[in-house]
Amino acid sequence: MKTLLITGASTGFGRSLAKEALQRGHQVALAVRNLESVADLVSQYPEKAFGIRFDLTKSEDALHAIDAIVEKYGRIDVLINNAGYGLLASVEETTDAQLQRNLETNFTGPLRLIRAALPAMREQKAGLIINLSAIAAYANHAGFAVYGGAKAALDAACDAAAQDVASYGIKFTSIVPGPFRTDFIGRSLEHSPRMPAYEATVGKFGAFLEKMKGRQPGDPKRAAKVIIDLLDAEKPPFRLLLGGYAHTMFAKKLASQEAEMNAWREIGLKTDFPQGE
Ligand SMILES: NC(=O)c1ccc[n+]([C@@H]2O[C@H](COP(=O)([O-])OP(=O)(O)OC[C@H]3O[C@@H](n4cnc5c(N)ncnc54)[C@H](OP(=O)(O)O)[C@@H]3O)[C@@H](O)[C@H]2O)c1
Repeated sequence: MKTLLITGASTGFGRSLAKEALQRGHQVALAVRNLESVADLVSQYPEKAFGIRFDLTKSEDALHAIDAIVEKYGRIDVLINNAGYGLLASVEETTDAQLQRNLETNFTGPLRLIRAALPAMREQKAGLIINLSAIAAYANHAGFAVYGGAKAALDAACDAAAQDVASYGIKFTSIVPGPFRTDFIGRSLEHSPRMPAYEATVGKFGAFLEKMKGRQPGDPKRAAKVIIDLLDAEKPPFRLLLGGYAHTMFAKKLASQEAEMNAWREIGLKTDFPQGE
């Protein structure tokens, strides 16, 4: 039995992850903005689940959440940074307030929670930190500059953090989903007013998402089973792509990046000092 803290357990991935973990007998702290949204899970699993009021945009909530789980269960084995939301806006259309709230929710808030969890995990000499990233962090679309940028920032930060704390037995996994059937293309996708200049790019991507709504190929329940299986993995992957869409997009991007690196290699290599200098 492990002790987990899951953010955004109200709906979507977070709820599926919480249910899967509870069904398997784990103890789960459900970190949510509205405690009512997890009241059913808490009453179904009174010994194993409890709610913590938590908002990623409130800096003090990170330490409170970690203190609450450590006080209740004596440890935190797994942190799942799941909560987040999308912003469909070109860079020009993005307001300062949108930029700040999105970065706070998808990057700064999750990183603060990781920082708050690390002392307990270092003391335990064990821990697993799972972040819900997105394929937009690796193969992005017009309109997802801020959202994909925030997810990419967290993944890059965790690449370093994983090296900071590997010797303490703390592991990191970034989950990289393509489109999954949750509330994401709905209440969790903020839209900026569209400038005519971006109808053909951002507008087109927005229409593609709208058409996909309710028919996304990814199943959050199947995803939850695969993610909770990682708790028993000897060596969880640093990055786990979920679904066919993410695999196709990631492979295309890798191939084009490799081709571009090789095409410009000779020019790029001219910039080192000659050997011996
Ligand atoms: N579904 C996809 O296609 C997809 C693809 C790639 C990545 N993802 C990522 O998967 C994660 C979960 O999203 P989902 O698809 O499951 O969508 P969802 O069902 O809409 O869930 C979003 C969750 O994030 C929570 N949340 C949003 N802002 C928050 C804040 N400031 N503080 C605390 N909680 C906050 C929401 O809480 P409330 O109930 O209080 O609003 C909700 O629990 C997100 O990080 C998203 O970027 C999703």
